[in-house]
Amino acid sequence: MKQFPTHFLWGGALAANQVEGAYLTDGKGLSTSDVMPQGIIGPVIERDTVNKTACLKDIAIDFYHRYPEDIALFAEMGFKCLRTSIAWSRIFPHGDETQPNEAGLAFYDSVFDEMAKYGIQPVITLSHYEMPWTLVKKYGGWGDRKLIDFFEHYARTVFTRYQEKVKLWLTFNEINMSLHEPMTGVGLPKSSSQSEIYQAIHHQLVASARVVKLCHEIIPEARIGNMLLGGLMYPLTCKPEDVLATLQQNQKWLFFGDVQSRGNYPGYMLRYFRENGIELAITEQDRQDLKNTVDFISFSYYMSGCTTADESEYLKQQGNILHMITNPHLPSSEWGWQIDPLGLRTLLNLLWDRYQKPLFIVENGLGAKDTPEADGSIQDDYRIQYLNDHLVQVREAIEDGVDIMGYTSWGAIDLVSASKGEISKRYGYIYVDQNEQGTGSLERRRKKSFHWYKQVIETQGGSLSE
Ligand code: BG6
Repeated sequence: MKQFPTHFLWGGALAANQVEGAYLTDGKGLSTSDVMPQGIIGPVIERDTVNKTACLKDIAIDFYHRYPEDIALFAEMGFKCLRTSIAWSRIFPHGDETQPNEAGLAFYDSVFDEMAKYGIQPVITLSHYEMPWTLVKKYGGWGDRKLIDFFEHYARTVFTRYQEKVKLWLTFNEINMSLHEPMTGVGLPKSSSQSEIYQAIHHQLVASARVVKLCHEIIPEARIGNMLLGGLMYPLTCKPEDVLATLQQNQKWLFFGDVQSRGNYPGYMLRYFRENGIELAITEQDRQDLKNTVDFISFSYYMSGCTTADESEYLKQQGNILHMITNPHLPSSEWGWQIDPLGLRTLLNLLWDRYQKPLFIVENGLGAKDTPEADGSIQDDYRIQYLNDHLVQVREAIEDGVDIMGYTSWGAIDLVSASKGEISKRYGYIYVDQNEQGTGSLERRRKKSFHWYKQVIETQGGSLSE
């Protein structure tokens, strides 16, 4: 029987801004996520602590107060690890303070202690789709080089504080998303020029590399990875023009992994900058800093898409954040995300061939509407099917010789969706009684997939059906 290795890290993934709620509790400052109630594709809606605008994320699923119950449920499924993030604005409410907020630090101490009770290893993202809002208002986000120092100070604070508790770290969630949603990624408005966005990205890449170095210095036994949105693209046809366009489209996101894994800007990107009038301010020190490369590559994978050299094809596709064409050979989720388990095996092989560093699938899952049955149970066979088929391909990739550290499905429990800030798009093994108005009872309930995943972990993948 094909097996997953015994050290394989089975688990689930969350992000602070999508589960915690308590958005101003215990001294937390506003973050970019707090001013985007309609999600990362929605507008910024200014708010202050007095004039509050309702936002589902203010409460979310109240993980801030209910984490002991949730972690106990994860432990019941047999999780070996749990990926979540630290909200930067809990530690430095405005981002530019010298002294951290002790209450914020204490909160994560308790969360990590709770995980330790069950032997669940934390996998911690330093910045998952949020940063202190003051850094955007006062400095213009990552466009300002000072953000590198603020981020480094924040990372030093949490590495030092949690050095005994956290040994697996990720720098920026889906760092390549800045190309599509610059406010969420680098704190820049959508109207920003390509030069401005790439300069901000450069600062973020330098910050990522600097904290890799810092992590190795402060916690020598820890491992730290990057996090990419695994945007696998296929050519729409076998026309050489489509194949080349696909290579170039894939380079747009692989570029981030190339810099973070190889330590310098690849030639194809320098050409792109040259031909598009993009001149980046890169210092000699930046070049040195970038040489601090990640220990492993982590990524999310939900779907694949197609690319063509014929630009007019894109105009026919609506609401397309990722600039991709529908694949006629694949089914889609209710949200139009195309389901492609085989693509995960292809992507794992591609990333392994390219980087020869361990890979960690830190997000994969199906967003779907769950309707409780009359007896209150949730029969989410569609989710089981999706996860089963993807895990079968992970196992195939291991057979192909790919070094895979683990798999944390998204999200281990229902949470607020990132793109539109809605809760009806559910991902969890655990149902949360919450609605779009934020008035649910927040009761937790095991779905059918909860029992299924428990068995998959127990049998080390042996119960998966081919
Ligand atoms: C990833 C993000 O892009 O996709 C998560 O890292 C997000 O934060 C997940 O929740 C699923 O996207 P959505 O929009 O369905 O929540």
